[in-house]
Amino acid sequence: MLQSGSLPTLLLLLSFTSSIETDTRLLPPPQKVRIESTNMKHLLKWSPLQVSCATVTYSVQFQGEFELQFLNGSWENALDCQSIHENVCDLTPDLASDSDYDIRVRAECGGQVSRWTSLGTRFNRRETNLSTPDMRVNVSGDFIHVEFANLPKNVDIILMHWRQGQELSASRHHITAEWNPFHLGGLESGATYCLSAQALLHSINKSTSTETKCFRIPESMLPWLKPIAVFVAVVIVMALGFAAFWSLTGCCPALLHACWPKEQLPDALLHREAGNTLRVHTEEELRELYHSVQVLDPSQPEREEEKG
Ligand SMILES: *[C@@H]1O[C@H](CO)[C@@H](O)[C@H](O)[C@H]1NC(C)=O
Ligand SMILES: *[C@@H]1O[C@H](CO)[C@@H](O)[C@H](O)[C@H]1NC(C)=O
Ligand SMILES: *[C@@H]1O[C@H](CO)[C@@H](O)[C@H](O)[C@H]1NC(C)=O
Ligand SMILES: *[C@@H]1O[C@H](CO)[C@@H](O)[C@H](O)[C@H]1NC(C)=O
Repeated sequence: MLQSGSLPTLLLLLSFTSSIETDTRLLPPPQKVRIESTNMKHLLKWSPLQVSCATVTYSVQFQGEFELQFLNGSWENALDCQSIHENVCDLTPDLASDSDYDIRVRAECGGQVSRWTSLGTRFNRRETNLSTPDMRVNVSGDFIHVEFANLPKNVDIILMHWRQGQELSASRHHITAEWNPFHLGGLESGATYCLSAQALLHSINKSTSTETKCFRIPESMLPWLKPIAVFVAVVIVMALGFAAFWSLTGCCPALLHACWPKEQLPDALLHREAGNTLRVHTEEELRELYHSVQVLDPSQPEREEEKG
């Protein structure tokens, strides 16, 4: 390329590159370029430029194995990250294959551009970190409500639930975004159930699991309330009955008499002689018997009987 006849061209080229260098020296390149990738969402971040320039913008480019092998090592513009004001770029739609990508960013201000700052290492989206599912659980009645907060669309959840101590016979539930929140029903009251969730990213065969959490289903009211209610009712009825009986017999005999007056047995029964023969009383005897009915002390009927 550098032939003797092409000196003016070389000078022109040198002056052109030096003018670029002058420009790039005025605008420092972005620092601390890094990629944060969680659940297949890839964010390129860098420190904002501290320069006395009106509006600093940034542009991002990437180069994958495809660009290296088939496009002569060209760089592609990141779709949504051209002349952006933020110091973060979502590269999720750009890094569309499981290949190694080189990524770079530069700053722009006015007519000036900085040099490119490269990520430094190649990034493969398989390095994405899978976050542990944010499992939120409520117990109400014999239901367990399970909700996964911020569940990404491309992440599947396998929820396992089992009765405590029976982990081997755990039930599996496949939960996708439309089944979130999920309701576990028909659980036995008073029993303890354990839950654990596994997040799966099928595209890169990665998974993470939550810790196991156990929840006790509260005893439902009816099974123990019924016998207790019956028992209490029986005790109350018995106590009332006893109190009534005691008050009538021991405390207020007059009341007892008023309610169930004790009738004097007829003479024929009261004064049974041997042979059960009827006896004819004298008038005096009858009067005495009549008086005895009148003055009878109801609390001492026996003595009257003895007397008779
Ligand atoms: C994954 O997480 C680890 C630990 O938090 C972090 O050091 C690493 O940079 C993360 N990787 C990506 C690609 O975000
Ligand atoms: C790559 O470079 C070669 C020669 O240098 C050229 O023939 C070819 O067209 C280039 N391909 C692309 C995609 O630019
Ligand atoms: C659990 O209860 C809280 C507050 O009581 C509520 O905000 C949340 O939505 C409930 N979650 C589920 C899964 O029912
Ligand atoms: C996924 O990973 C598991 C172990 O981590 C392995 O047994 C399985 O073969 C992998 N599947 C695929 C499709 O790579």
